[in-house]
Amino acid sequence: MAAEMAMVKPISKFSRTTTPRLGNPRVASYNVKFSTITMSAATTTTKPSKKGAKQGIKETLLTPRFYTTDFDEMERLFNTEINDKLNQSEFEALLQEFKTDYNQTHFVRNKEFKEAADKLEGPIRQIFVEFLERSCTAEFSGFLLYKELGRRLKKTNPVVAEIFSLMSRDEARHAGFLNKGLSDFNLALDLGFLTKARKYTFFKPKFIFYATYLSEKIGYWRYITIYRHLKANPEYQLYPIFKYFENWCQDENRHGDFFSALMKAQPQFLNDWKAKLWARFFCLSVYVTMYLNDCQRTAFYEGIGLNTKEFDMHVIIETNRTTARIFPAVLDVENPEFKRKLDRMVEINQKLLAVGDTQDIPLVKNLKRIPLIAALASELLAAYLMPPIESGSVDFAEFEPQLVY
Ligand SMILES: [Fe+2]
Ligand SMILES: [Fe+2]
Repeated sequence: MAAEMAMVKPISKFSRTTTPRLGNPRVASYNVKFSTITMSAATTTTKPSKKGAKQGIKETLLTPRFYTTDFDEMERLFNTEINDKLNQSEFEALLQEFKTDYNQTHFVRNKEFKEAADKLEGPIRQIFVEFLERSCTAEFSGFLLYKELGRRLKKTNPVVAEIFSLMSRDEARHAGFLNKGLSDFNLALDLGFLTKARKYTFFKPKFIFYATYLSEKIGYWRYITIYRHLKANPEYQLYPIFKYFENWCQDENRHGDFFSALMKAQPQFLNDWKAKLWARFFCLSVYVTMYLNDCQRTAFYEGIGLNTKEFDMHVIIETNRTTARIFPAVLDVENPEFKRKLDRMVEINQKLLAVGDTQDIPLVKNLKRIPLIAALASELLAAYLMPPIESGSVDFAEFEPQLVY
């Protein structure tokens, strides 16, 4: 996983705090010699770190989340005896590709990292740290979910299970590489602590498919866009991690393609009116989350020579075009009205953040927030209700085998 999917939960009852059983996360076992960063969620207790001075991260609605799902339902969905739509030969082919492990030797650091980090001072240094923390958390979130799916599906579908395990290998590498980046700034995310202490958001399997597919594809488009931009404008290459994005994003693309194959094997999640409504909902949720997040961090994007809104719109449009190949409906993001709505949401969000920064007592702050939240909700609803684009290239109701993606 690479991108953040945090803004909206589909139905509040799906959210609960759980800690799935996990193996021994490889990336969580790094020796921490520096300041250790933990995250404190409102619902969790922050224990003191034994490993050094810790730095808190403000947890907000837009912070990258950790996910868990109904693993029993997942087992039923991928049971070949129950589901005859599972195209095992396609999964076998995907497994071979994951086994090839194209990026086995890609994530090797060099001395440029520390040198570049030492040159970053003042606000830009802080912005880079935040970028590394958020990216590491998002990658680690994918690692945890895929690792558990790999473990739980072993009996019912060993091929699908092994792909999940190999995807968790990729995400562990990504998270670990970002955490190593934090070491250049004398920091480290305490991933073992995060695993235990953070709140997990529960999504039913079908929502995991929509959300994770989008997260992987939007991650791919973010990474490749940054990579291409910095290749063309090397003067903005402030830190060498971006040079790794070209091969890195191919991992995310493969992960997204695997979810595409999974969804094809579950046509009931793609072929009716409810699927269309949910597909649009998840697109909106992912796009708005990214746009609001990035517009709060324009200094980072400007620091690497990008115009934040142009970058985001490019990523949204490309992700939407890719997504239209599999989702039964997508948003009309190329309609200029869509961007106008996003920009209004940014303005409202800025006002909401400003309320939080005032010296008012909590009650007054909450009263001031009510009209703003109502305005944000109404913009979201209006964006959701814009005429969608019917998409998907297969008539799932008839399962025409000759139609391909
Ligand atoms: Fe990743
Ligand atoms: Fe990924």
